[in-house]
Amino acid sequence: MARRKIIAGNWKMNMTPSQAVALCAELKDLVKSDSVDVVYCVPAIDIVPVVEAVKGTNVQVGAENLYIEDKGAYTGEISAPMLVDAGVKFVIIGHSERREYFKEDDAFLNKKVKKAFEAGLTPILCCGETLEQREMGVTMDWIRLQIKSDLVGITADQVKSMVIAYEPIWAIGTGKTATTEQAEEVCKGIRECIAEIYDAATADAVRIQYGGSVNAGNAAELFAQPDIDGGLVGGASLKADFGKIVNY
Ligand code: 13P
Repeated sequence: MARRKIIAGNWKMNMTPSQAVALCAELKDLVKSDSVDVVYCVPAIDIVPVVEAVKGTNVQVGAENLYIEDKGAYTGEISAPMLVDAGVKFVIIGHSERREYFKEDDAFLNKKVKKAFEAGLTPILCCGETLEQREMGVTMDWIRLQIKSDLVGITADQVKSMVIAYEPIWAIGTGKTATTEQAEEVCKGIRECIAEIYDAATADAVRIQYGGSVNAGNAAELFAQPDIDGGLVGGASLKADFGKIVNY
């Protein structure tokens, strides 16, 4: 089955609302594509202006986080229904920065994945190993643990529609990209894990991105791998280069 590539920018904590609108205008023509899905995952405060700024284009908007309750006394949090009402289609869940700095564990992330599906959002579920884990030779054990824990109670049909992003932590923001072989090996391993938990059809349908220092120079080779269905792009999504990555 031919999976459609999905190239998503993760803006992280960058871009004020006015900068966000300016970036959308700068990238508008550069990210045009009929053949891949293009998503901007943006800070919560940028969601409303960015949804407006990309109206009528091929760009879809994602959030970088959500909370597990729909409403109530959770000061500072943003719910799935709020995101949906604002025009958000995707949501990043379990980015290594949230796991590390905000102590989000797999049980909590599993609730977030469930909440995203319940609201009609498509999760982009992140996983990835530290350099220490890679050097110890436990990369695939660790990733399988993350995937299996984060997907408890998620149906095969839901998994078919979602996105998984493999992001080795040592490659994020370091300029040190995983080799094509390393990236493909883990993305393939994730697909095998999905086949084990669910079935071959589910493994064949789920889209698996690579993330970690993706740039205009390495995107084409990474995205040409049989199990890599696009990228989750940090730094390079904030500049004109993102257009080159989309049109790799
Ligand atoms: P960089 O592309 O800046 O390495 O960030 C990757 C990332 O964390 C995307 O979610």
